[in-house]
Amino acid sequence: MTDLQGLRAIVTGGASGIGLATARLLAERGARVAVLDLDPGDAPLGFTADVSDDASVRAAVAAAAGALGGIDVLVNNAGIGAAGTVADNDDAQWHRVLDVNVLGIVRTTRAALPHLRASAHAAIVNTCSIAATAGLPQRALYSASKGAVLSLTLAMAADHVREGIRVNCVNPGTVDTPWVGRLLDAADDPAAERAALNARQPTGRLVSAQEVAAAIAYLASPAAASTTGTALAVDGGMQGLRLRPAAS
Ligand SMILES: NC(=O)c1ccc[n+]([C@@H]2O[C@H](COP(=O)([O-])OP(=O)(O)OC[C@H]3O[C@@H](n4cnc5c(N)ncnc54)[C@H](O)[C@@H]3O)[C@@H](O)[C@H]2O)c1
Repeated sequence: MTDLQGLRAIVTGGASGIGLATARLLAERGARVAVLDLDPGDAPLGFTADVSDDASVRAAVAAAAGALGGIDVLVNNAGIGAAGTVADNDDAQWHRVLDVNVLGIVRTTRAALPHLRASAHAAIVNTCSIAATAGLPQRALYSASKGAVLSLTLAMAADHVREGIRVNCVNPGTVDTPWVGRLLDAADDPAAERAALNARQPTGRLVSAQEVAAAIAYLASPAAASTTGTALAVDGGMQGLRLRPAAS
């Protein structure tokens, strides 16, 4: 498919996992893609940026827009996790996760808006999470951050619809990325933990980064021109389905 031919895209957190799969897919489908990441690695067009630092974001977005000749698509994907109940994370951790996961989106969007306003096919896709819509244990801080991403997506969609900028988000379930690999490595019994995560999803397996990338690419594409202010679940049915236990 070359449906993104001529579009210019920025993907934050594009050096790993969902962001890497998204950057590759957008490029395969014809877009020119700039990756903004703490460490852009070997991305063909990579810019070092920390989404928790406004000056860093402004410099990287300006450099990316210069290299691409503008911005049509912004994928706000950079994010970090946190484990624990509301009793477990101190104030510094709360500030840090909200700074990256929520204000990170604010900073990149603020910097990219003038370029998006100049685009005929402007779209923003935020990487949210099933943690925004389902109560997951031991994820109080992370869930609060993604709940904010969901609400921010809706508010941004309302604010910018008349400027021709669409804003949507994807809500992945548990995705098989290096992030989840790190969580599994840290578990007492990684195989049992993986089995529990697989079993939590009606499809019986983790979501792939490529499946989330495909949803992001759809929302970013002109094919979705009438879609704004939506959250697209890519979660193996975890949010919407209530299955009976499998017959043994
Ligand atoms: N993996 C999952 O199960 C899952 C599920 C739902 C949502 N998500 C969301 O998907 C997004 C990507 O997750 P992933 O699993 O691909 O993670 P990952 O750790 O594999 O990749 C995240 C990337 O973001 C970059 N990054 C982190 N902090 C940054 C910062 N301050 N500035 C710039 N870049 C930064 C990292 O360097 C890394 O390249 C996150 O927003 C996460 O919350 C992940």
